[in-house]
Amino acid sequence: MTSLGRKTMSLLRQLSIIFFCFEVTVYCQYEMHRMDEDYDEDGDDDYSPPFYFHPSRDGGIPSHPGPLSCAWECFCPLTFPSAMYCDNRKLKAIPKIPAHVQQLYLQYNDIEAVTAHSFANASNLKEINLGHNKIKSQQIEHGVFARLPNLLQLHLDHNDLEDFPLPLPNSLERLLLGNNAISRVEAYAMEGLINLTMLDLCHNQLHDSLLKEKLFQTRNLMQLSLCSNRLESMPPDLPSSLMHLSLENNSISLIPDNYFKKFPKLLALRLSYNNLQEIPYDTFNISSLVELNVGHNRLKQAFYVPRNLEHLYMEDNEFEYINVTLMCPSIDPIHYRHLTYIRLDQNRLKEPISSYICFCFPYIHSVYYGEQRKPDGQTVQLKTQVFRRFQADDEEEEEEEGDGQGHEPEGQEQGRTEENFDPYFY
Ligand SMILES: *[C@@H]1O[C@H](CO)[C@@H](O)[C@H](O)[C@H]1NC(C)=O
Ligand SMILES: *[C@@H]1O[C@H](CO)[C@@H](O)[C@H](O)[C@H]1NC(C)=O
Ligand SMILES: *[C@@H]1O[C@H](CO)[C@@H](O)[C@H](O)[C@H]1NC(C)=O
Ligand SMILES: *[C@@H]1O[C@H](CO)[C@@H](O)[C@H](O)[C@H]1NC(C)=O
Ligand SMILES: *[C@@H]1O[C@H](CO)[C@@H](O)[C@H](O)[C@H]1NC(C)=O
Repeated sequence: MTSLGRKTMSLLRQLSIIFFCFEVTVYCQYEMHRMDEDYDEDGDDDYSPPFYFHPSRDGGIPSHPGPLSCAWECFCPLTFPSAMYCDNRKLKAIPKIPAHVQQLYLQYNDIEAVTAHSFANASNLKEINLGHNKIKSQQIEHGVFARLPNLLQLHLDHNDLEDFPLPLPNSLERLLLGNNAISRVEAYAMEGLINLTMLDLCHNQLHDSLLKEKLFQTRNLMQLSLCSNRLESMPPDLPSSLMHLSLENNSISLIPDNYFKKFPKLLALRLSYNNLQEIPYDTFNISSLVELNVGHNRLKQAFYVPRNLEHLYMEDNEFEYINVTLMCPSIDPIHYRHLTYIRLDQNRLKEPISSYICFCFPYIHSVYYGEQRKPDGQTVQLKTQVFRRFQADDEEEEEEEGDGQGHEPEGQEQGRTEENFDPYFY
């Protein structure tokens, strides 16, 4: 397309969006519908590490003479010859690991100890899953993991660890330690783990005093989960490489000014179930942010909504009124804000948000009000339980003009972002 054509297209597109915005006031409709099922993202399901790993099977197996051996307690599928499956077998000890094994699955057993003997020949291991066992920190033989020079992923979640397991091999990329009783971390624990990208420490007993400065100075860390610990303040000096940060279910009451300024890549932030009451107005002015959860706090005052944010969870706070002007102080007709969904149930709202919201956030698809709390402790349903915008005419759908944003305010696009949106994806 010529550049003139391109300009004309983009101008037309802007005009059509502006026009669409006017129509929205007409299309802004309310409907009754229970959506808490659809959007109950903080369900009470058992916690499981928010992470999926697809082992790569093309890693190649070291050449090995004769048929590959397998511990008698375990299963070694021919179709995945680098793996040994020993999970769910009531094992009390780790079997001998043949030298060719790269993926070792030992989860859901009754293993209490990790001995160096079992791993004597296992220097090709890349992944070990020891989750859901009964391992205590003192029962891990010193240096057993550090001697595995190719280890990338280690699961020790759902055990009885009290200390951060040290030492670890510098090759490690993903470390899952959720659901233990870890209350001690050495200040140098993460030193040398230069390739660590993912660390899950949810459901432990970490206090502020442990998260010493520089503790997490692992410059490639992308995902850090510290949910359900005992933190009372925001951890200092987290690495600027972070993309996903979960601090859910602690007792954090304060976010220092400019705290998030140093995270230019942050995509998802979870601060639900804390004690946040007042936060600086521009706290969440993070240009990369797509998902923000501040539900289950004590917030009263709306805050600035950054342009790329798509999902905003604000349920169970103390909002009596949502000032849209605060969320969106100006409308830039070229760079629309991307917000599509707001959850607002269990607040103290007396009426729905002003329909000005459709202008500020032209992509908004639904606002969930659910039940609101009254001063006397009763709950009340607003006339509107869910605000759901009608689908726009289909004609706008065609011209997705590859502006790198890939967002259209139509129903179909929203169908993708909303219905299939999995809040536990991260
Ligand atoms: C390690 O390999 C050696 C030589 O193949 C073998 O004799 C020994 O039993 C193996 N040890 C373990 C723990 O598998
Ligand atoms: C870290 O990752 C890079 C790239 O994959 C690799 O070349 C390097 O050897 C790794 N470092 C360690 C200490 O394993
Ligand atoms: C919050 O953390 C506490 C312990 O710190 C735990 O008992 C509780 O189940 C957690 N709640 C949620 C919703 O995860
Ligand atoms: C948000 O941050 C940008 C630059 O990062 C700045 O120009 C803008 O004024 C900030 N907006 C608010 C409301 O703080
Ligand atoms: C909403 O916020 C704007 C900007 O701070 C302020 O001027 C306005 O008075 C507020 N509106 C209400 C109803 O509080």
